[in-house]
Amino acid sequence: MITDADIQAWMGDTAERLMPCQRVLDVGARDGSSSQPYAGVGRSVIALDIEPAGLKRGIEKGHIRPGHAVVAHGRWLPFPDGIFDLVSSRWFLHEFPEQGPFLAEMRRVVRAGGWVVGVDFLATNPSVQAFLNRYIFTDEYLRQRTQVLRPWAEAGLEVKETNWRVIGLEEDAGELRELGADWSEIPGAVKAELWLRRKGNSVFLNVPVVLLVADRGEGGSCTRPGRPQGIASTSGFEYPNGKEVMGVREPENTNCKRPKVFDRRG
Ligand SMILES: C[S@@+](CC[C@H](N)C(=O)[O-])C[C@H]1O[C@@H](n2cnc3c(N)ncnc32)[C@H](O)[C@@H]1O
Repeated sequence: MITDADIQAWMGDTAERLMPCQRVLDVGARDGSSSQPYAGVGRSVIALDIEPAGLKRGIEKGHIRPGHAVVAHGRWLPFPDGIFDLVSSRWFLHEFPEQGPFLAEMRRVVRAGGWVVGVDFLATNPSVQAFLNRYIFTDEYLRQRTQVLRPWAEAGLEVKETNWRVIGLEEDAGELRELGADWSEIPGAVKAELWLRRKGNSVFLNVPVVLLVADRGEGGSCTRPGRPQGIASTSGFEYPNGKEVMGVREPENTNCKRPKVFDRRG
């Protein structure tokens, strides 16, 4: 089993190994916890989120550098084609019923030879998926392990590394009860699969996660989609022009070379 700190270390190590240079975009960054691994190994990270509050918190906490936070919709990234060396998202893609358009946008803004990295939760089978989607990741769209890679391929991304792990989570037992989860009604197989257990007011469970590294692949077009006039996020925040920049510097134009081709699958 791994922890959040292990995942952060994996992200930093991956960036160090894959990219000798600078430019990283973290999509759905919130307070920049997922940007930190890249900043920690000297990368210049732009943190993007649809909600400004989290980004502001991240700047205050020192997770995000001032001038490196962008408020925008992940579906319409406010950047030209191919300007990032690495585009990353963590705990982001499962928020959407259709992941394809988000992955296609990530692919568009990553340069040829660059990388798209994804870290997300997943389910092992239909009953675990139903339980997690109903009680833990409410109103979200956790995929089963077998469904995870398809949208990446459909977006033209070529997955080079897949690392399947399990992360320990702690949830509020009260919240589970409010959602109607009667402990005795949770199937034993689901409890066993997730190592579901209670202690005090907390419920502990081990959830599978996947850590993916992909490149842009050979084929496919990288065209910028039309920008919408106004978008409301799930929490009701609306940004009228498709983007609101909290002050962003163009990433440094370094001359990067791809160091190595990987073909490892976990
Ligand atoms: C679960 S949080 C993950 C935060 C961070 N990546 C981490 O690993 O700690 C998901 C984030 O995605 C953001 N988000 C949701 N929909 C979005 C969208 N359409 N475009 C950009 N960000 C979005 C949310 O505001 C939230 O901050």
